[in-house]
Amino acid sequence: MGKLLAILAVLCLKSFEFSYSTDIINCYWGTWAYYRTGDGKFDASNINPRLCTHLSYSFFGINDSGEIVSLDTWLDYDLGFISKAVGLKRQNPSLKVLAVVGGWNQGSIKYSSMAGDKHKRQNFVKSAVNLLSKNGFDGLDLDWEYPSQRGGNSHDRANFVTLLRELKKAFDPRGYQLTIAVGAGEKIASVSYDIANIVPYVKFINLMTYDFATASDGKTGFNSPLMAIENSIIFWLNHGAPANKLVLGVGTYGRTFQLSDASQNKPGARCLGGGSAGTYTRESGFLGYNEICLNKWKTIFDNKNDSPYAFSGDQWVSFDNEFSVELKMYSAFSHGLAGVMIWSLETDDFRGKCGQSYPLLKTINKIMHK
Ligand SMILES: *[C@@H]1O[C@H](CO)[C@@H](O)[C@H](O)[C@H]1NC(C)=O
Repeated sequence: MGKLLAILAVLCLKSFEFSYSTDIINCYWGTWAYYRTGDGKFDASNINPRLCTHLSYSFFGINDSGEIVSLDTWLDYDLGFISKAVGLKRQNPSLKVLAVVGGWNQGSIKYSSMAGDKHKRQNFVKSAVNLLSKNGFDGLDLDWEYPSQRGGNSHDRANFVTLLRELKKAFDPRGYQLTIAVGAGEKIASVSYDIANIVPYVKFINLMTYDFATASDGKTGFNSPLMAIENSIIFWLNHGAPANKLVLGVGTYGRTFQLSDASQNKPGARCLGGGSAGTYTRESGFLGYNEICLNKWKTIFDNKNDSPYAFSGDQWVSFDNEFSVELKMYSAFSHGLAGVMIWSLETDDFRGKCGQSYPLLKTINKIMHK
């Protein structure tokens, strides 16, 4: 049935004239996956840099002066992860390696106080230029999650634009790229982003078009349903983002749920909380695709959400597979988006334990270059 749908999708979509304007494939790398055990352990030698146009090295933080700091100096410098990341350019000379600052666990408060203080903003910009030039990065990706939310204040939205303007001014003469990762859905984006005024300062915008459902909803749902992605893209386009600066986010992971009643396992079924932690990722509510694909759970493709889900006993997961990634890409194609990013390399089946290596990232490459 999946095959038939794929053929139908291709036939329908072939009738549109579409293409990606810049063919970006931005690969985020959560460097802490080095600490995972067994087949979950991931380092630079596991990266195929020819499958990515950008490698986004995650994460750096900031301190109370607003300066960018390493969150793990042993990994970044003593083990040489930064220089190994930048060294991948030898295998793919057109690869851009970006330093990513922020992320969910960094929260919003420090970024709010930095962006709202002229002196701290200067520190941030100066330390950014310093970080990039010292280590050979090609640019910076700012993942403030999120301006005016999670402890930030109402001025963040405007201060974020000021910060991006000052960064771009410092970056342009040096040829550094400036990108951002953003909460994609209207609920987050309408509060956090002055979209039309952000656009001139960034090379592209990584839409985090996932995490649309989590166990805190109290019921099972889809991590990345196509309709929510469509609505997000349309929201950004309608608010002044040009398609050729928008990058579709694909999650190489699933959101998991512990069912209240194992016999009630449809989407929308009640749940008690996150599903059991995976052997590699060790976090309740989350499983990498490299963990999901090894499970022999009953898997159903949900046509309404264009995504698969799977369950076993009281465990339930919604995720993306090769087919749903393909459907997402056709949707992005139809809007003429700039490309695709994945969060993240280390939870794709990078070792090929379930088939070919990097099945999701290779699907993206295949569809992009078709
Ligand atoms: C922030 O980091 C910079 C660079 O490491 C350091 O010089 C500065 O003192 C730090 N500020 C605070 C408040 O920790």
